[in-house]
Amino acid sequence: MKILGIETSCDDTCISVTKVKSFEIISNIVSSQVKLHAKYGGVWPFLAKREHQKDLPIVLKKATKNIDISKIDLIGVTIGPGLEPCLWQGINFAKDLAEKLNKPIVPVNHIKAHILANFLDYQTRQRNLFPAICLVVSGGHTQLILMRDIGKYRLIGETRDDAAGECFDKVARILGLGYPGGPAIAVTAANLKPKTYNLKPKLPRPMIYQKNYDFSFSGLKTAVLYDFRARPPKIRKSKEYIQEMCFEIQQAIIDVLIHKTLRATKDFKAKSIILGGGVAANDELRRQFALNLKSEILNLKFLVPPKIFCTDNAAMVAVTAYFHKKEATKNWQIVKAEANLRIS
Ligand code: KG4
Ligand code: ZN
Repeated sequence: MKILGIETSCDDTCISVTKVKSFEIISNIVSSQVKLHAKYGGVWPFLAKREHQKDLPIVLKKATKNIDISKIDLIGVTIGPGLEPCLWQGINFAKDLAEKLNKPIVPVNHIKAHILANFLDYQTRQRNLFPAICLVVSGGHTQLILMRDIGKYRLIGETRDDAAGECFDKVARILGLGYPGGPAIAVTAANLKPKTYNLKPKLPRPMIYQKNYDFSFSGLKTAVLYDFRARPPKIRKSKEYIQEMCFEIQQAIIDVLIHKTLRATKDFKAKSIILGGGVAANDELRRQFALNLKSEILNLKFLVPPKIFCTDNAAMVAVTAYFHKKEATKNWQIVKAEANLRIS
């Protein structure tokens, strides 16, 4: 069975052809709009929509270069959550293709796709993982999800304001590091030599000890702004200050994410922790999660996708379409964008 996945929920135009059940990824093309949006320090939805429209046929051509497209069995497309004008580009493209090829469409939830990116690896599905606590951390979302099986998800907590990736992006803008902020902050923080940690900016760990599974990151960004403004201009532009602030903001976000995830893991007696989303590509987050699990709880499995499957891609859409193939429809008219689609 060959599945064609389409993902356009934000600023990456992605198409993948994935073969199941072996989950051989035949192609996984991502056309990033980062350079275009970098000028504005964030994503402009209508500019992104225009780029998707332009790029989708080109990306499809590349993704299907070595296959007979009429042999596709199923099309999976992201329907939400995401930026509505961008979602519609992918959906309409999927509908046209489905009609032309006379194939069904599986409408795919973007959050589930970030989780199921972990299941691209056949071995993963053989393991005794459930119940699992999933942490999805991206530019648009920070959610904790209790997963009782593939297809059985329950949202138990989420950010009350900004997402973790959004916080990285906004802080990077304050510090003049460009867009996307997460990778820039990670690289800058990694260059800090511990002995030169002199200015010691100190940030809060919002909601860390509250007995719930929610997050809040907008105050963290404001705390960075206040600290930045309080420094003399010469200091705030210095390499030393920027490196120390990158180190501190990254650690503040990591501390809260790990603490809350571990709390949920204990409360729900989970057998595994599953990460997904762009922020899960962060090396320190991955390293510190693994370290904490080693020292804290025995026999807990820890899953995180290879970095290219953490950020937006269409292989994760194809694998999700496979696991949710019961939802396939040929009534293409009913496939619609749902910008605020939630895991219930
Ligand atoms: O999942 P994703 O590609 O798109 C959304 O669904 O939002 O996530 C993008 C987010 C951006 O905010 C970006 O700054 C962040 O993921 N990100 C990172 C890293 N790589 C991407 N954040 C921290 N460290 C990274 N290495
Ligand atoms: Zn995403």
